[in-house]
Amino acid sequence: MMSSRMVPDATKNRCGNVSKDLSAWLSKNELPEHANTWTDSSWRASVRRSLLRWFRRESRDLPWRQEPTPYRVWVSEIMLQQTQVATVIDYYHRFMDSFPTVRDLAEADLQKVLTHWEGLGYYRRARSLHAASQKIMEVHGGEFPTRYEDVLALPGIGRYTAGAILSISLGQRLPILEGNTQRVFSRWIASRSPVTDRQALNLLWKFAEVMLPTKDPGAFNQAAMELGALICRPTSPNCGQCPVKASCQARLLGLQEEIPGKVKKLVYEDREEYAFVVRENQSQRSNSSTRYLVRRLPEGRRWAGLWDFPRTTEQSYQNVQEASRALSAELGIPFDVGADLLTLKHAVTRFRIKLHVYAAACNGSHRKPERPPKPWRFATLDEINALPMSVTGRKIAERIPVADGS
Ligand code: ADE
Repeated sequence: MMSSRMVPDATKNRCGNVSKDLSAWLSKNELPEHANTWTDSSWRASVRRSLLRWFRRESRDLPWRQEPTPYRVWVSEIMLQQTQVATVIDYYHRFMDSFPTVRDLAEADLQKVLTHWEGLGYYRRARSLHAASQKIMEVHGGEFPTRYEDVLALPGIGRYTAGAILSISLGQRLPILEGNTQRVFSRWIASRSPVTDRQALNLLWKFAEVMLPTKDPGAFNQAAMELGALICRPTSPNCGQCPVKASCQARLLGLQEEIPGKVKKLVYEDREEYAFVVRENQSQRSNSSTRYLVRRLPEGRRWAGLWDFPRTTEQSYQNVQEASRALSAELGIPFDVGADLLTLKHAVTRFRIKLHVYAAACNGSHRKPERPPKPWRFATLDEINALPMSVTGRKIAERIPVADGS
């Protein structure tokens, strides 16, 4: 019945109480090496009990845990993807104040939603929230759907998020698996495989499913995530304080620091990029504020929907003159390069980017520099401050008064 790759549990092999369904699943699936204690229902009951008792005592008082409606849990879960709880809290309050219901979100301008997201990064999340809210209005009459398949069909919602929303807000018995729980569950069953391993993921999803209690599965899901966030940390897990320490197979084998196994390190590619704060030719406009060249980034590009200054992204240029000539030709707007304003270091996917930012001025001797081709436009600093921008775009905007010597 057990997979040949299983190792005995750290204490004694006592997998006596395995349900029929689980037995069938185990015999059908090729699994990575791990301890099989979890197939014993009394082990699972003991882990659940200890974890939930701890969670009742120690859970953080987070805004989305008060009044956990599907909408409120959905917004929190989307914000919590890729972002720490401490950062999310203020964003969450502001978002809920501005968009308290699905309808408020659906009827809001996307630009306003993106402005609320500014600084959180991964803006696709905000665009998907907005698109999903409109789908909920159109397809579900403004009521957040309660069927798993319907939730999964919404933009930006995968298996984890659908399970989290429906288990936490409505008590549906759906498993979850995200960064914290992948690590916690891998340790509980001493699975050493990296969490990117397909067989390990398959095992962890099954484990997450069979661990769920019939009563309040949402509390179990939150408790497992909370344990990962507070105790079962990636490095130096605080096993002394862990409510599950007596059952944790990694701890019993002394493997808590080794688990989960290391994922192959991403190899970064270094790139040099250039951005320009291109000032409009003042002689063409009297008595008005200085304006700068900006555009909304098109779909399919990084940071789509946000606004940005002219910058090179497709390739590395050898120097600023090369970059400015190429950009100038691409935009059809001749400009002269001025002062070196700042250099920003940041990473996008596998690129480690050094972004060199220069002041620049439209070259008035050429034709019609005051009418840039679409989607480019000139905007005053006040207008730029009101536009949603990428994090580096905002940092550049903050230097504009310096660029003008004012
Ligand atoms: N991380 C993501 N969602 C969470 C939740 N609901 N509770 C604790 N940590 C989380």
